[in-house]
Amino acid sequence: MSRRRTRSGPLSAGEATGDGEEELEGWDSLEEYLASEAARTSGAGQSPAPTADLRGPKAASTRHYFSRAESQPAETFTFPLRFGDRTIDWVSAHGVFSKQQLDFGSRLLLEVAEIPATGRLLDLGCGTGALGLLALASRVESGGSGEDRLWACLSDISDHALACASANRERLGLTGSAGIVQGEFLAPFRSGVFGTVLFNPPIRAGKAPILETLTRMRRVLEPDGTLWVVARVQQGAKSLLAHLENVFEGAAQVRARRKGYLILRAGGRKADGI
Ligand SMILES: C[S@@+](CC[C@H](N)C(=O)[O-])C[C@H]1O[C@@H](n2cnc3c(N)ncnc32)[C@H](O)[C@@H]1O
Repeated sequence: MSRRRTRSGPLSAGEATGDGEEELEGWDSLEEYLASEAARTSGAGQSPAPTADLRGPKAASTRHYFSRAESQPAETFTFPLRFGDRTIDWVSAHGVFSKQQLDFGSRLLLEVAEIPATGRLLDLGCGTGALGLLALASRVESGGSGEDRLWACLSDISDHALACASANRERLGLTGSAGIVQGEFLAPFRSGVFGTVLFNPPIRAGKAPILETLTRMRRVLEPDGTLWVVARVQQGAKSLLAHLENVFEGAAQVRARRKGYLILRAGGRKADGI
């Protein structure tokens, strides 16, 4: 096990969980680590399930509308997802967000967001993994090599969503570049680890947990890190913008507006003119 500390390579277990001690080799190790930590803290004393409860004490009060551990395995199917000049057989399941097509807002976010070629990206509330995986796919070939390339973390509360995200990751050949973490919003992640966060918030979870998540977003971002959010005006996009302006001390703006959807950008380098 390596104890190297790197800002551009895969997220270490310590960085993900906040214990800050041991650094693991890669995303698969991270998942194993998180699952075993969850088992240890719940006192299970047996082999942990990969979907073990990772909630922190603070996040436990957050309401959400998805069951973390669905009683049945996901019933998956595929649909043709057109993206750029590719059509991908995209794995989806009943009960996941936008199950039969790429959501208009997600597509717009992918069109507008500036995805770096290197560093670490978080797809928060990843659903089937569209934002993180398609962003990664668009950058992976133009990126660097070894640890100097873009890494993505796909994170969600839902077992079924993560089963789809995992299958899509494999289909796109991105298993070595993307990790999967189950947890409540930002609870699994420690400070300053992501250069980019993409977030299509689960509006049905309620306004309070989303505002709370936006408040905490600065913590998980690197100092110059950038947050991209998509939301509909009729679902409160403008109040999310006002909140981001407050949290990011003015460094928040609307970067695109189409068909009632706003793409919001917050944070980033001062040189970028916000
Ligand atoms: C609007 S969907 C976006 C899905 C995907 N990012 C996309 O753009 O297609 C919001 C996602 O947030 C997830 N979610 C809901 N409550 C959550 C929570 N408390 N913590 C983490 N993710 C949550 C849902 O399971 C859902 O996949």
